Amino acid sequence: MPKDLIAVLDFGGQYSHLITRRVRECEVYSELLPYTMTSQDILKLKTKGIILSGGPASVYDENAPKCDPGIFRLGVPVLGICYGLQVMVQMLGGRVKATKRREYGKTQLNIIDHSDLFQGINSPITSWMSHGDYAETLPDGFEVIASSENCKTAAIRDPSRRLYGVQFHPEVAHTENGLEIIRNFATKTSACSQSWNPKSIIETAVQQIRSEVGDGDVLSAVSGGVDSTTTAVLVQRAVGKRLTSIFVNHGLLRKDEEKVVLRTLEDTLKLNVHYVDASERFLKRLKGVTDPEQKRKIIGEEFIKVFDEESSKIGTFRWLAQGTLYPDVIESAGTGSIAARIKTHHNVGGIPEWSRFRILEPLRFLYKDEVRKIARELGVPEAIVNTHPFPGPGLAVRIVGDVTEEKIRICRDASAIVEEVLASHGLYDSVWQAFAIVGDDLVVGVLGDQRQLAHIVTVRIVKSLDGMTADWARISPDVLEELSSRITGEVPGVTWVTYAITSKPPSTIEPG
Ligand code: XMP
Repeated sequence: MPKDLIAVLDFGGQYSHLITRRVRECEVYSELLPYTMTSQDILKLKTKGIILSGGPASVYDENAPKCDPGIFRLGVPVLGICYGLQVMVQMLGGRVKATKRREYGKTQLNIIDHSDLFQGINSPITSWMSHGDYAETLPDGFEVIASSENCKTAAIRDPSRRLYGVQFHPEVAHTENGLEIIRNFATKTSACSQSWNPKSIIETAVQQIRSEVGDGDVLSAVSGGVDSTTTAVLVQRAVGKRLTSIFVNHGLLRKDEEKVVLRTLEDTLKLNVHYVDASERFLKRLKGVTDPEQKRKIIGEEFIKVFDEESSKIGTFRWLAQGTLYPDVIESAGTGSIAARIKTHHNVGGIPEWSRFRILEPLRFLYKDEVRKIARELGVPEAIVNTHPFPGPGLAVRIVGDVTEEKIRICRDASAIVEEVLASHGLYDSVWQAFAIVGDDLVVGVLGDQRQLAHIVTVRIVKSLDGMTADWARISPDVLEELSSRITGEVPGVTWVTYAITSKPPSTIEPG
């Protein structure tokens, strides 16, 4: 890892990951750590600055979370944000009080001192506030450096101990120059070097993979998605021919996907891919299964079996590389519960912990946007970098009821039309996912001159930031009309096309 770290101690705030991401946007490496970490352990990580995150608690709650007081004596700059400011004030002898009225939303911030946190920023700025408590009296040595109408202590500092606090949220986009404030703290006050960029991330990851695997051989599962592809390309950079990738076709891929993916992985990226067409055995096991959870379970189990069998055929591998990302590794407790904890998912890619492999996770310190950046730097084609997420169980989750050859054909061909039409209107990149769903309901239509009972295809197009919530995309009636006429015209066995207009929640994105 790079030398200089900004440690973000997580008090369970909804923006904790965002703070870490913002620091990284300033090209400074940052990690999200539990607030319970001791000051000595934090120092061992070569920490040059500490940020205390926001959180849902009040400092005067019983069992309010507190960090190790030693943190304030390390001589390392500390920035408390919202709850982080309040906990620092209280622990150092100041007083925190409930405000008469909760302050929430955009607030004008008047900057008093421009020498450090607010260097280069003209007063006033709009800031984003969300708090019910404020610092009424400050600990010895502290002074106010910015204030708002309802919060006189909106930004404070003790210059001699290099302790800082802001009541507002600089990490949120609504705060004007918020990124500049974070950059000032990370690069000026904490004097971190700015070396967290795609080139250095790749260099560090390659070195780390080499030192971890030694002379062992590595196996990876590839699907053509950005995470598994980037993992494979990184490992290939590190160990060259000692990497073999397995690509399992479960018969539930998108139209021509196996051909396009294989061509890209082998011809463009020069990966050594062992391709397995296991469609038949997957479809056989899925026959007659209608319960969505059962379908997923069967596909997961079968995948592991195929993977295990095939990998033992092609060699002896000590390592298995997986594309686990940082948010999967660090699971900060939700705002409902305070205890921050760290959890490592060794089975995110579906490989159980009992497997005979040692797990290599070269993306485990990266956010998705960082993976996309390094993928581009590594020469991964845009078609993979920008492709919509595609679930592991594939089309099975888009087929309602049992998975039959006919429903796979309809779902696959109609989905291809959906993607094609969106791309032709320049809409593909503006939505999170777009696909077709098919079930068992048959309706009457007129195909040619004949009345016919045939399938309904439901088109699902959603907008989302992270897949956790989603909104149905407001697609123009002309584009919907084009989708409907192309699907009924080109996909045999479809008489009706409907459009899904339910958001998540209450729906999920995938129907199964
Ligand atoms: P839902 O349907 O839960 O989906 O709203 C949220 C996001 O997750 C994807 N998804 C999956 N991805 N295995 C995966 O790898 C799965 O079993 C799975 N189920 C849903 C879905 O495509 C969406 O982006």
